Amino acid sequence: MKVTVVGAGNVGATCANVIAHKELANEVVLLDIKEGFAEGKALDIWETAPINLYDSRVTGSTNDYERTRGSEVVVITSGLPRKPGMSRDDLIATNAGIVKSVTEQVVKYSPNAKIIIVSNPLDVMSYAAYLTAKVDSRRVFGMAGVLDTARYRAFLATELNVSPKDIQAVLMGGHGDTMVPLPRYTTVAGIPVTELIAEDKLNAIIERTKKGGGEIVNLLGTSAWYAPGAAAAQMVEAVVRDQKRIFPSCAWLQGEYGLKDIYLGVPTKLGKNGIEEIIELKLNEQEKEALYTSANSVKEVMDVLDNMGVMTA
Ligand code: NAI
Ligand code: 2OP
Repeated sequence: MKVTVVGAGNVGATCANVIAHKELANEVVLLDIKEGFAEGKALDIWETAPINLYDSRVTGSTNDYERTRGSEVVVITSGLPRKPGMSRDDLIATNAGIVKSVTEQVVKYSPNAKIIIVSNPLDVMSYAAYLTAKVDSRRVFGMAGVLDTARYRAFLATELNVSPKDIQAVLMGGHGDTMVPLPRYTTVAGIPVTELIAEDKLNAIIERTKKGGGEIVNLLGTSAWYAPGAAAAQMVEAVVRDQKRIFPSCAWLQGEYGLKDIYLGVPTKLGKNGIEEIIELKLNEQEKEALYTSANSVKEVMDVLDNMGVMTA
C-alpha cells in the first residue's frame, strides 16, 4: 500500500512523518516541486525509523509523479501558507493553479486514489481539486474539521483540566472565521460540556477556536503544521484502515443540510471508499443560521474562483 503526500513543506513533511511512524502504508512518497527538497525531508524522516521502530519506507521525489503511481491515498498540501495579515482567501489564485496542476498528475498516476486536500483556502481548494479530478466526489475531500475540532478540544481540555481524549465534539462549516463549533454536540466523557463550563468561558473558547489558525500565524509568522499534519494523517488512517470513523470533512454537498454544489465541513463517515456517509444532524434554527452564514462565505470564494478562469485555463 502506497500513500503519497504532495508538498514537502511544514504540513506535508509532518503528515508523512506521522503516516510513517504509525505504519499506515508500506511506502510513503513525499513529492515537492523544489529540487531535492522532498528527497531531503524523506531521508531525514526515514532516518528516524531505526529510532522510532517502523518499517514504512519513506522516499522523496522532485515532481516525478511516476513514483506516486498506484497510491491508495494522496494528501495535497502544496501551496503557499498564510503570512501575517494575509487571509486564507488571498491565497486563492496561486494555490488554485497549484492544486489544479497537482491534481491532474495525481489522477493520471493514481486514478483510484482517495484525495485529501489540505491547501488553503481549504473549502475552495477542495472544490478546485474536485473540478480537476472529475472522479466521484466521495474520493475528493478536505481536511479542516479534524484540525479545528482538535483545537477546540485542546482548549477545552486546558480549561477543564481533563484529558483531551475524553472530549468529543462536532464542528461544521467552512475553514475560516465563520466555522461553526457546536456546543450542543460537545461532551466530556459523555457529559454535555454545558454542564461543566460557564457559558462565557465556553463562548470565549469557541471564539478562540474560530481564530485558532490566525493565533498560530501571529505567533510563528507562518501557519501551523504539527496539528494540521497529524490531522491529515488521522484521515489517511481512517481510510487505509477502513475505520469508519466519524470526522468532520470538507465534503461536496448535494442537498444535504439544504445545500447544493458546495464544499463545506460536515460530519462524515470515513472508510476505504473515502466519504462513505454524510451525517445529517438535526440542527436548531440558530445552528442552521450559523451554518448558512458560513456556507455563504465559502460560496462567495467559490464564485471568485469560478470567475477567475483559473480552472478552465
Ligand atoms: P510550506 O510552504 O511549508 O510548504 C508548501 C510546499 O508546497 C513547499 O515545499 C512548496 O515547494 C510546495 N509546492 C508548491 N507548489 C508545488 C507544486 N506545484 N507541486 C508540488 N509541490 C509544490 O507550507 P505549509 O505550511 O506546509 O502549508 C501548506 C498549505 O497547507 C498552505 O496552503 C496552508 O495554508 C495550508 N494549510 C491548511 C490547513 C488546513 O487546516 N486545511 C492547516 C495548515 C496549513
Ligand atoms: C490553520 O488553520 C492557516 O488553515 C491554517 O492553521
